[in-house]
Amino acid sequence: MKISIIGTGNVGGALATQWAKAGHQIFLGTRDLSKFDDKHLLQNPNTSLHSIAESAEKAEVILIAAVPQAVQAIAAQIKDFVSQKTIIDAMNSVRVKPEGFENTFEALKMLLPESEIVKCFNSTGFENMANPIYKGEGIDMFVAGSSKKGKEIAQKLSSDAGFSTCWDFGADDKAQLLEHFALSWINLAIMQGHGRNMAFKIIKR
Ligand SMILES: NC(=O)c1ccc[n+]([C@@H]2O[C@H](COP(=O)([O-])OP(=O)(O)OC[C@H]3O[C@@H](n4cnc5c(N)ncnc54)[C@H](OP(=O)(O)O)[C@@H]3O)[C@@H](O)[C@H]2O)c1
Repeated sequence: MKISIIGTGNVGGALATQWAKAGHQIFLGTRDLSKFDDKHLLQNPNTSLHSIAESAEKAEVILIAAVPQAVQAIAAQIKDFVSQKTIIDAMNSVRVKPEGFENTFEALKMLLPESEIVKCFNSTGFENMANPIYKGEGIDMFVAGSSKKGKEIAQKLSSDAGFSTCWDFGADDKAQLLEHFALSWINLAIMQGHGRNMAFKIIKR
């Protein structure tokens, strides 16, 4: 798949690396090509560096893993290139919300109404995205959104990144709940001191 990654820090960098290893073509999108800090990502296979707009134009699916307050600026740059394309929102408004919106998912739905938007890759730490294997088994991922196509793509990319089941968390109205689920991981890992090497896995009987 051709994947644009906007926000190439902890989360974007980990997923860019996993997906490049899995054989996907990665178009990193950065706001200033001359100031791009994450040059190590260009050593991954199938990976190239572009402006934010160009990365979205070249890709079939766009992962946004930037800071929440950048959502409006990013949407303005990609809006002409993302109609009918899947956009995966990996962001959490932990301290800062996008201005005028409750969360990034709500902002993206409003600003990019013709895109297939889902929320995924937000519910665990970036270390778990770089290596989702615990005791020989993949941890679980979760996806929310009303786009069937978007969910199927996110679930495929979750599997390609090494996760086990990518659970359907529900429709658009569950995106905020999925963000609260992420805050639950942050609470356990950081506030309660269990450490970032912990993950969610569903068991059933
Ligand atoms: N860290 C985690 O474990 C984790 C896990 C799940 C979800 N999340 C969420 O994922 C998002 C990213 O987290 P992170 O830890 O990966 O952050 P990070 O390492 O600080 O990376 C943030 C990225 O956003 C880019 N950015 C900042 N302002 C921008 C703008 N105006 N336009 C375009 N790009 C801009 C930065 O680019 P520059 O390098 O140019 O500044 C950087 O690549 C956050 O919403 C966070 O809540 C984080």
